[in-house]
Amino acid sequence: MIEFPAEPYRIKTIEPIKLISREERERKIAEAKFNVFRLRAEDVFLDFLTDSGTSAMSDSQWAGLLTGDESYAGCKNYYNFEETIRSITGFKHIIPVHQGRAAEHILFTNLIKPGDLVPSNTHFDTTRANIEYLKAEAVDLVIDEGKSPTLDHPFKGNINLDKLEALIKQYGKERVPFGMLAVTNNSGGGQPVSLENIRRTSEILRSQGIPFILDACRYAENCYFIKIREKGQSRKSVREIAREMFSYADGCTMSAKKDGLANIGGFIGLNSDRLHQGVTNTMILFEGFRTYGGLAGRDLESIARGLEEALDEAYLAHRTGQVRMFGELLKKAGIPIVQPTGGHAVFIDAAALLPDIALSNYPGWALTIAIYREGGIRGVEIGGVMFGKKKSEGSEIFPPMELVRLAIPRRVYTESHFRYAASVFARIAETRKSLRGLKITYAPELLRHFTAEFEEL
Ligand SMILES: Cc1ncc(COP(=O)(O)O)c(C=O)c1O
Repeated sequence: MIEFPAEPYRIKTIEPIKLISREERERKIAEAKFNVFRLRAEDVFLDFLTDSGTSAMSDSQWAGLLTGDESYAGCKNYYNFEETIRSITGFKHIIPVHQGRAAEHILFTNLIKPGDLVPSNTHFDTTRANIEYLKAEAVDLVIDEGKSPTLDHPFKGNINLDKLEALIKQYGKERVPFGMLAVTNNSGGGQPVSLENIRRTSEILRSQGIPFILDACRYAENCYFIKIREKGQSRKSVREIAREMFSYADGCTMSAKKDGLANIGGFIGLNSDRLHQGVTNTMILFEGFRTYGGLAGRDLESIARGLEEALDEAYLAHRTGQVRMFGELLKKAGIPIVQPTGGHAVFIDAAALLPDIALSNYPGWALTIAIYREGGIRGVEIGGVMFGKKKSEGSEIFPPMELVRLAIPRRVYTESHFRYAASVFARIAETRKSLRGLKITYAPELLRHFTAEFEEL
């Protein structure tokens, strides 16, 4: 068997990238107040900030853009979009939105009341923020194995079913407007959820009359892991697994910027007619008419085509193999990573790599600065800055893991890019004792990592 399958596509268009000098990188990161979100993309050589909206589109998707029907209501691309998604998910109502967080905002506004609790494996940051914005609590119930970077488990994204049942019992089903699962579990290391865990989550929630919503951003990658890792699933196609997975849910939110292989877009899938009516009304206020949802007709077309391409199993074998290969290269460079590698990113255990930097001085954040300085690489901290909470003046609660995520854009980088990145990390491993922590000099209340400003200690 080939260990890391080759790209099942070839390159037709290229976009030049440039490594600016070390001195320029020093200046740029200081000007960006030591926050990589504030850098200009053109000053970044390899951009592993996110896999969201960064995919290279296929020739078919680009061709699809030219078929865009920009009518306000009922454009033909919407019907292709709807039919494609309905055939994949089986949901009755398919509502386009401009991206995943819009799906969250619109759906949650129709379901959540203050004081509610919403359980999930691990809520993504925008999901959590949209729940908290409505004065409800986002509760993470991922299995204990999912909180340990070194433990090997095929489905570290699974939810702890006992804790889910206990939460409903403790607070009562009236306070749990719906339950969620993120597939794959981005904030928990891009780890997949097993079909068995999804089915049992569904049984628990449905037995209480609580709707079950999938955060389906990376559902195709999750279904591929089910096929190759879960007992009894290898003979099914990824499409069949996806259909079964969605059949356990009552709806989904989806950012098509991931497994839609599109640069923008998303959707809400729903079965309930009543909820669909509420969502449609909220849509008009925030996103636009129901058949375009804040998108151009051409975007709907590229998403419909991208969703089909993302289910291609040769593509998924290459995609997950590329992530695995990058993980192996980093391990050889002496970098501790979350094991096994997940679907869309390699997660570095920054606390283990930089034990001399206290959590209160944000070792993950320090690592994002170091890799930019050393090699023009951009990654994102998923740790104390993103998920830490102020307890009182001067004291913070930190999340269970202090990670740096290197998200891999789909169909964008080649093996030599990953080899270059691994050589940069090898230098970081050698000089790690000299790295410095940081302190925050400005931060907004919600989603602080996007705009916070820092000083190096
Ligand atoms: C699991 C998960 N849910 C929701 C979102 C939000 O999607 P968007 O960025 O399109 O708003 C993301 C984005 O990265 C995500 O990873």
